[in-house]
Amino acid sequence: MKRILSGVQPSGKPHIGNYLGAMRQHIEMQKNYECFLFIADLHALTTVREPQTLRELSIELALDYLALGLDPKKVTYFRQSDLPEHAELCWILGCITPFSVLERGHAWKDAREKQTKDPTVGLFNYPVLMAADILLYKPDLVPVGQDQKQHVEIARDIGQKFNRRFGEVFKIPEPYIRKDVATVMGTDGRKMSKSYGNTIEIFAPEKELKKQIMGIVTDSTPVEDPKDPTSCTVFNIFKYFADKKEEKELEEKYKKGGCGYGDSKIKLYEKILTYFEEPRKKRIELSMNLDYVEEVLKKGAESARAVAADTLKQVKDKVGIPTT
Ligand code: AMP
Ligand code: TRP
Repeated sequence: MKRILSGVQPSGKPHIGNYLGAMRQHIEMQKNYECFLFIADLHALTTVREPQTLRELSIELALDYLALGLDPKKVTYFRQSDLPEHAELCWILGCITPFSVLERGHAWKDAREKQTKDPTVGLFNYPVLMAADILLYKPDLVPVGQDQKQHVEIARDIGQKFNRRFGEVFKIPEPYIRKDVATVMGTDGRKMSKSYGNTIEIFAPEKELKKQIMGIVTDSTPVEDPKDPTSCTVFNIFKYFADKKEEKELEEKYKKGGCGYGDSKIKLYEKILTYFEEPRKKRIELSMNLDYVEEVLKKGAESARAVAADTLKQVKDKVGIPTT
């Protein structure tokens, strides 16, 4: 069975961009792949500065995955920080990673361009930690959204470099990116992102969800005029959740005119509520049993450790660091 690995940062509430671009694939793939999925809390430390918030967001992300159908019997689901192997391998890999590669990292370049006052070493080193996350588990595929492609490529380069320099340890994985959902747009027309405040959250309370959807930016075409569905964010998001027939119906309405953006937003709101109805219910039940969630993470960390510790030992042997 082929193996996959992926992580999501607990840096905010997961949104439909995370879901369509990554989480849905993760959950679907549990049927046919050996899956390692984790909460990237060490990565989230680059942006979350409140300890209580980080703790809460981490547990909430676990709740989200379980509610969406992650089966802990099939998937090794764990918290990154429970395995010191990640940070340890990150250091070793950092010692063979050229500074210039990280300078070209898009998250780093963004931070520089936005003139973030004094970007941290953690942000600079982010791709090396991600390479460690990936290479430790020797996956075949890394299912992510388009924005993570460069990071997976950096991980491949680092892995190849290590193998060449010290001898074969790492498997070199492929990114797995679904074209149709590679980049989901947010309510303001930019990429949907926790850091832009333009998200539609999967598990937002109904009122909040409605507010987020009603806030989608549309053009000023009058209600009665025909509209171009392809350039409308509401329609484009609706498409992800609707079947072909529903999509066609809404498309016709747009083209005919007489359907306002307000109407299509309500349609989208109802669609999303129905689509996530079961997970929303399940999440409430699960949230009353947080001990169960902790138990899942504890068991996940134990299984993950068996793999991660073995890879790290091979790495240490190769580079000349004693293993106990
Ligand atoms: P993050 O919240 O940054 O940890 O992202 C978790 C996963 O969701 C990663 O695989 C991202 O590539 C994916 N993702 C985040 N935003 C989007 C988006 N707007 N469209 C598609 N995938 C996304
Ligand atoms: N950087 C990823 C993101 O923001 C999260 C992540 C951390 C990840 N480590 C990973 C994804 C390893 C895939 C594999 O989405």
